[in-house]
Amino acid sequence: MQSNKLKKLIAIFFVLFIFSSCTKDLIVPDPPAPPPPPPPPGENQISYKAEIQSIWDAKCNTCHGNGGTPPVLTASKSWQNMMAMPGMIDTVNPGSSIIYLEVLPPNGGMVQMGQTTKANADSIYKWIRQGAKNN
Ligand code: HEC
Repeated sequence: MQSNKLKKLIAIFFVLFIFSSCTKDLIVPDPPAPPPPPPPPGENQISYKAEIQSIWDAKCNTCHGNGGTPPVLTASKSWQNMMAMPGMIDTVNPGSSIIYLEVLPPNGGMVQMGQTTKANADSIYKWIRQGAKNN
């Protein structure tokens, strides 16, 4: 009799233990993606049209001009074209944006093609971190 009670008690605790570990798994969600790093206070706002488009015009559009290799980066279409390509611009993780990685020295695929500098890559990173606006 005594040992049966004990067994029942152990069984109940066992079930409770499993149950509680399950509910714990259910309650704890996957951690959300980390927010983008906050811009330093007083950071200057990057103008897409003035600063980023001028990089495309100077260094990219011999190949990425109208009828060229996607993304077409001409002034009238560059922003829309980049936004339409998955992964090209990632405002949550600016450092994962394809357009940024392509121009980032020393290993970006377009660094040799477009002669991009670290300063170019930094401007593009900042612009994405500020929300990649068509400003
Ligand atoms: C000499 C020609 C040339 C120049 C200049 C050039 N590109 Fe490219 N680009 C290519 C070619 C060819 C491809 C397709 C093959 C590849 O991905 O390497 C490409 C692909 C790309 C891609 C797509 C990569 C992907 O994974 O989908 C991006 C983004 C890009 N270029 C951005 C740029 C930027 C920004 C510049 C200017 C800084 C630039 N390119 C300058 C020829 C060029």
